[in-house]
Amino acid sequence: MHHFQYKGNELYCEGVAVERITKEVGTPFYLYSNATLEHHFKVFDEVFSDVPHITCYAVKANSNIAILDIFGRLGGGADIVSGGELFRALRAGMSPDKIVYSGVGKKVDEIDFALKSDILMFNVESPQELRVINDRAGALGKKARIAIRVNPDVDPKTHPYISTGLKKSKFGIDIKRALDEYRNARELKNIEIAGVDCHIGSQITEIGPFKDAVRKIKELVLTMKSEGFEIKYLDLGGGLGIPYNAEEPPHPFDYGKTLMEGVSDLGCTLILEPGRVIVGNAGILVTKVLYTKEGEEKSFVIVDAGMNDMIRPSIYGSFHFIQPVIKEERKDVMVDVVGPICESGDFLAKERQMPEARPGELLAVMSAGAYGFAMASNYNSRPRVAEILVQGDQYHVIRKREGYEDLIRMEKIPD
Ligand code: LLP
Repeated sequence: MHHFQYKGNELYCEGVAVERITKEVGTPFYLYSNATLEHHFKVFDEVFSDVPHITCYAVKANSNIAILDIFGRLGGGADIVSGGELFRALRAGMSPDKIVYSGVGKKVDEIDFALKSDILMFNVESPQELRVINDRAGALGKKARIAIRVNPDVDPKTHPYISTGLKKSKFGIDIKRALDEYRNARELKNIEIAGVDCHIGSQITEIGPFKDAVRKIKELVLTMKSEGFEIKYLDLGGGLGIPYNAEEPPHPFDYGKTLMEGVSDLGCTLILEPGRVIVGNAGILVTKVLYTKEGEEKSFVIVDAGMNDMIRPSIYGSFHFIQPVIKEERKDVMVDVVGPICESGDFLAKERQMPEARPGELLAVMSAGAYGFAMASNYNSRPRVAEILVQGDQYHVIRKREGYEDLIRMEKIPD
């Protein structure tokens, strides 16, 4: 369920007409529904209510502090992958004892920051990283709680760029070598083994890969227990997909059931790292049609949002449904929806059948709440767009539109 619906011919976000916001903040902008964000978080979190668990929202999906604040208030924690994300989570008031830190390339200053912040645990992705964490913990007089991110060699059947749990992937430690690495970790003075972690990929639309991963992880945990390891936390990552178009991903309820059935008898606290499933369909990108153009072979709708604002279609060939903000009777045409960037890869939709667009009208790029603004850049010296959060019949600017001065703020011409 989401709160982007037409009232009559006009698209609303909760109680606010999208067009009204445009008049005051210009275009393009990302628009999020507070009610949808809360609803998605609660539905997901309640699925696991029968077992001890922490829902650690994957900050990378959408890292605006106003959004982190919402999940923090609902009792959520954070899955972070950088010092910057840790900074955001803390600044949004999220509790460090609900923060887990993944990523293959943690730097010393980031490790120190996390140790000093006393986060719940590091999801360690290599033997060398484990040793660095041990050293830094020693230097700071701390004990680092860790899980090893285990790579279970499961095909998540998603886009190759967002598959992470295959043998050939850079993530985690191969499941066959994980036990040995845990044995090594046990010898390290400043390391406390707290859990086992695994994340196999993103936008996963079948239950099978989750089932396979859980089965393999369970086997590992049982072996570890027989060797006397105490496994308090089982982090099963994120990855649950959402419908962008015709996908039919498992409902969080079925996803949760599969996970819990798989591991219920292990007596661990579950950690989940959902990103997209919480924020994806809670946000849209609103853009204005600048021009329409008939090519020899194709028709183009040129809009004011480009691949720097929303890069998913360009790099993953992702589908985002696009609809007019004000609906009216008109014929359907086949178009490419493209941005102003000087690259042929700059498109929001290719060969899309949609209502014939008029210059000046507004389009809503749907399902843009996850990995939308978070992946935006200033390419072509385009100021990044505003982010707006709607609550009922009010809206709040949660990130101002950047201006030209922002583009050069960090730059300097040498004397
Ligand atoms: N945990 C870890 C360790 C991750 O690497 C990720 C996502 C998540 C959790 C959250 O996954 P989610 O629940 O959102 O699927 N930019 C791509 C997605 C990259 C996902 C990277 N890792 C996209 O736009 O589709």
